[in-house]
Amino acid sequence: MRTDIVHIGAGELTYEIRGIMEVVEKLNAMGMKITLENIGDPVAKGEEIPDWLKSIIADLAMENGSYAYSATLGDLETRKYLAALTNQTSGVHLDENDILFFNGLGDAITKVYGFLRRTARVITPSPTYTTHSSSEAAHAGLPPVCYPLDPQNHWYPDVAELRRRVKYNPAIAAILIINPDNPTGMVYPEHLLEEIVSIARDFDLFIIADEIYLNLAYNGHKGKSLSEIIGNVPAISMKGISKELPWPGSRCGWMEVYNADRDPMFANYIKSITNAKMMEVCSTTLPQKAIPRVFEHPAYADHLTKRRKRYERFSEIGYGKLKDIPGIMVNQTNGAFYMTVVFEEGRINRKQALAIANPEVRELIESLTAKDEKMQPDKRFVYYLLGATGICVVPLTSFSSDLQGFRVTLLETEEQKFTETFDILRESIKQYLASG
Ligand SMILES: Cc1ncc(COP(=O)(O)O)c(C=O)c1O
Repeated sequence: MRTDIVHIGAGELTYEIRGIMEVVEKLNAMGMKITLENIGDPVAKGEEIPDWLKSIIADLAMENGSYAYSATLGDLETRKYLAALTNQTSGVHLDENDILFFNGLGDAITKVYGFLRRTARVITPSPTYTTHSSSEAAHAGLPPVCYPLDPQNHWYPDVAELRRRVKYNPAIAAILIINPDNPTGMVYPEHLLEEIVSIARDFDLFIIADEIYLNLAYNGHKGKSLSEIIGNVPAISMKGISKELPWPGSRCGWMEVYNADRDPMFANYIKSITNAKMMEVCSTTLPQKAIPRVFEHPAYADHLTKRRKRYERFSEIGYGKLKDIPGIMVNQTNGAFYMTVVFEEGRINRKQALAIANPEVRELIESLTAKDEKMQPDKRFVYYLLGATGICVVPLTSFSSDLQGFRVTLLETEEQKFTETFDILRESIKQYLASG
């Protein structure tokens, strides 16, 4: 090309959660059975969608209006409903114009970072859900700016360190939190949320809270919504139905804007996101129309309670299986449906391996790991685990983290299969660590 056509941030766009599927496809072609514990899709992992929920969707499919464009911001009735829902439990006063629908939160995330001025940075947790950190880094054309979540302290953020990093980096315009968190399963205690809001207030920043898992907290924890503590600080809360219903294929999520009127520049930025959506016309109509009917259905609360109970039980089983292995750190998860395992410093290297019985599979894994000299040790572990056991997890370093480890899901629906998977995981970790 006579001029460089590659975006300045192109190198930042990596998504290992799905990237590893290329290897999975090769292994499938070799006849291997794979247990996918990499993608956060409850439906793909066998979760049953209840009949009452399916009939809401079926009824909507019979209505002509479901096939039309919706308003750019989203279906008016649904936005009014959601604004009232947030107002009921919080100190903010939303109206329907403070809500904007997207084609899934993935769409919201790329727009929220994509329409920020290139020099303005959002500090993201480390580790973090890659779509946030990669989109933010891609918008800036620079590596992500992070604050640490501490595996030695329940994965809570080090807020003193966050304050320091904000203070000494004037480019930081906003703080991201994911509550409950992906990939750690941590739920933010209220006092830490308040501290983060006070940092934003002190340094004139806004907050982005990804609350897609807010109603999936358990083990005695309750997700505290940003709207309850935000006060007068400008903020965006991101919500969706991919995980909660669950309906990830709906591609439907929304953002709620708090305190846009408090800062003209923030209001202008929000307007630019709305204008971008206007050029796309609108987001998926039918799922938006379903939201009030689903949330108001008498079976919904029970549906959520049952799902929370299952994740709670599986979080106990998973934690019980891994907690005593020397050389790793795990925390019991209290929200969302992921568990993150950290290898203690210096415990994994590029010499360790797992025995792979099938020669064709062994050759593939050995060539992939040998070929890439810069491959992170945890990615190497993930490849060997996949080749030796068929269990597919995601390396922790791909979640914008310097820690070595991996993320595994709690989504398996059969308790026996889940227990077996974690038994195999436990033995594989021990063997790998002992192998070199
Ligand atoms: C924290 C978080 N935010 C957003 C998303 C994307 O959600 P959606 O399906 O609405 O695009 C995910 C998906 O895994 C997630 O974990």
